[in-house]
Amino acid sequence: PDPDKAEFHLTAQQSTKEFLKGKETETLGYNGDYLGPVIKARKGEEVSVKVKNKLDEATTVHWHGLEVNGKQDGGPHSGIQSGESWNPKFTIDQPAATLWYHPHLLHKTGEQVYMGLAGLFYIEDEISESLDIPKEYGVNDIPLVIQDKQLFENGTYEYDLTMHDIMMGLQGNVVLVNGAIQPYLEVPKGKVRLRLLNGSNAKTYDFQLSDGESFQQIASDGGFLEKPVEMSGLTMSAAERAEIIVDFSDYETGDIVELSHQDYDLMKFVVTDQESKEYTIPEKLTDIPEIDTDTAVRTREFVMSGMGRSVSINGKQMDMDRVDEEVKLGDTEIWEVSNDGSGMMGGMPHPFHVHGVQFRIIDRGGDPPPPNERGWKDTVNVYPGEMVRLIATFDHSGLFMYHCHILEHEDSGMMGQYEVD
Ligand code: C2O
Ligand code: CU
Repeated sequence: PDPDKAEFHLTAQQSTKEFLKGKETETLGYNGDYLGPVIKARKGEEVSVKVKNKLDEATTVHWHGLEVNGKQDGGPHSGIQSGESWNPKFTIDQPAATLWYHPHLLHKTGEQVYMGLAGLFYIEDEISESLDIPKEYGVNDIPLVIQDKQLFENGTYEYDLTMHDIMMGLQGNVVLVNGAIQPYLEVPKGKVRLRLLNGSNAKTYDFQLSDGESFQQIASDGGFLEKPVEMSGLTMSAAERAEIIVDFSDYETGDIVELSHQDYDLMKFVVTDQESKEYTIPEKLTDIPEIDTDTAVRTREFVMSGMGRSVSINGKQMDMDRVDEEVKLGDTEIWEVSNDGSGMMGGMPHPFHVHGVQFRIIDRGGDPPPPNERGWKDTVNVYPGEMVRLIATFDHSGLFMYHCHILEHEDSGMMGQYEVD
């Protein structure tokens, strides 16, 4: 096989899963599982993905965070009918990052993701491979896909929205980590890297460790931060990713630390006596050149408003036949994204996601972004009444989406299209 080429296979199909012991429920997933395999590609590699749709309805596969042309992006125009296949090919042209993939069919994204169609997409490069950080997959480099579910007592679930879900986005009664309820993981006495994806339809998490210890965030949505950021808590809205390093070196064998969201324990880490290599997380992880705001050729405004079925961006709801914004290939632009706070009780935060690019946050409500938001991002939570300014260079052509990543809002039409040409 050609070392610069990689081929992956994804089959969207029905499967079953026991979320509660002895109680099986029907789910969807890729390749026979709930969720899908971790796709690992390398910068510069030519990737071919053979996607097969064995569902009884259409689907798409969108590469969330990947910088590819519109035709390969897997948005709502790339529908794969039941029984059909899709074979996008693209070259990885961006730094090491933890990205993900999920369906993006118009009005159906929430349901298909909720039923189990999602997976991680790692990019590695010379930097990720040479940094002195944990990188043994499954040993000290651990994927954690966090999703909430509304489980019935018999352990089954379905996508059946209440009025409240339509308003606020679906909120579950349990939180799954990689498809399991409160799992535990044995960890070596050393540094462990957690690659977190908030793969929930709507929920925002405030992650922390149960003993209040701090950790270091080393990467945001689109790759490494310039330097590790010491944190004692991490807020992640739907679709955001973060890589954090937790240091278990000073624990005793048998100690248990929980990863929690507020008072809810998501999972347990059980410290073992397994030896670990010593990692000295470098002071500097990578270089992220500033995008000079003077190079921006225009500023566009995006106003998110409304609630429930009447959510909108710039007063409009998604129309597949309407291109909302036209961007010139190669241009750098500033996008002013705001949340007008309309809706019940002063509105709610909307995580704004842009396809086809990784952007930088210039400011949040006029203030510089917090240190962990100073790297590459593709999704940013915008709070009621807030305006966030983004800057990006549009280097890929085609038709792309921008939308709220609360999937019930997206499915209700809180999405628009831009074309790069
Ligand atoms: Cu994660 Cu438009 O999607
Ligand atoms: Cu929203």
